[in-house]
Amino acid sequence: MKKTNLHFIFTFLFLTIFSSGYSFAQDSYNFNHGPYLQGLTEKEVSIYFTTSAKGFSHIELRNGENGDITKHYTYVNGLVQANNTMNTIKIDGLEPDTKYEYRLISKEMTDFQPYKVTYGDSISSEWYQFKTFNPKAKSASFIATSDIHDDAKKYSDLLSYLPVDKAEIVFLLGDIMSYFHKPDQPYTSFIDVSVDKFATEKPFVIVRGNHETRGHLAREYDNFVYRQDGHYYGVYTLGNTVVVMLDSGEDKPDTHPVYAGITAFDQYRAEQVEWLKEVVKSKEYKSAKHRIVMVHIPPLSKNRKNQAEKIQRDTDHGTQQMNDLFMPILNKAKVDLMISGHTHRHFILEEEKGVNNFPILVNDNKSASFVTVDDNGIHVKTVNNKGETTLERTF
Ligand SMILES: [Fe+2]
Repeated sequence: MKKTNLHFIFTFLFLTIFSSGYSFAQDSYNFNHGPYLQGLTEKEVSIYFTTSAKGFSHIELRNGENGDITKHYTYVNGLVQANNTMNTIKIDGLEPDTKYEYRLISKEMTDFQPYKVTYGDSISSEWYQFKTFNPKAKSASFIATSDIHDDAKKYSDLLSYLPVDKAEIVFLLGDIMSYFHKPDQPYTSFIDVSVDKFATEKPFVIVRGNHETRGHLAREYDNFVYRQDGHYYGVYTLGNTVVVMLDSGEDKPDTHPVYAGITAFDQYRAEQVEWLKEVVKSKEYKSAKHRIVMVHIPPLSKNRKNQAEKIQRDTDHGTQQMNDLFMPILNKAKVDLMISGHTHRHFILEEEKGVNNFPILVNDNKSASFVTVDDNGIHVKTVNNKGETTLERTF
């Protein structure tokens, strides 16, 4: 046999063995996204993760390394969640201000006959940890960023310039995706980076933007993120700070041709108004020392005396709705600061009595803010994607 033929055969055998081994490694059952925390409070948390193939998964939880282990599953109408890849497991009954450890456990389901289930590989993750919130805390710290538009590297860079380890929570204030049209897009756009940077230990919260409502998969977004009481609007309490999260919806009217008759954001905002009226009357809101509102579209008003010319260009339907529906309530509700995004420009709308009775921080599409709330007020440090500090101010 010629030397070239032998060389060809050895090369072929090597590639065959290598590629089959490689393919085996790729195909082995594993946790391929997460875990990431959602809906963390003083007493509960939801843990999200995926497996590479259909399986039966649960969480093991312990209070310290030597604590008793409890097992947590998701139950739906008498059935334990199984034969799935996307997992959401809610754990309640937790103690406030307490550190817990958890790990993921899963068994692959290789066959599911009516009277016989066949399991494949069993896997478990490393132990992760989180701490429940302290309702008596007199300070709070969080990160707020927006308008990432699928740029995972930019998001990762922004987080690297801030003390993520000191933040309790990360608020993603909308347009983190440009539109949702690929099944794995939430993972590749921001969830995988979040997991890498913080989300195994502390939650991110979605304050939806007008872009996440677009794309043929926008209606699947609910499966990836926690929503308080089923809505994208809600209230987060961090010690003596209350954060009200509004969903400003789409920027154009529902009748605009690009929405093809399948949006109802005017109706959705009207529902929120009724909800917001009750929120600002609640004991939780009234007794808070600090009140922060987060919303994607800022309520730029043509009635402002300052910055009026610039604002004139920015007022779309969503902005007008923010002004007409939400601001009359918020202006009477002793708000300390609003944080928003959407405009891709970084500026502050200073308090202007009768228009916006509180300052409004508008972040652009290359900024992230680290916010510390304590007895001295609300301290904001904003960095851009070059790591430069663009704002340092106490409100
Ligand atoms: Fe936007």
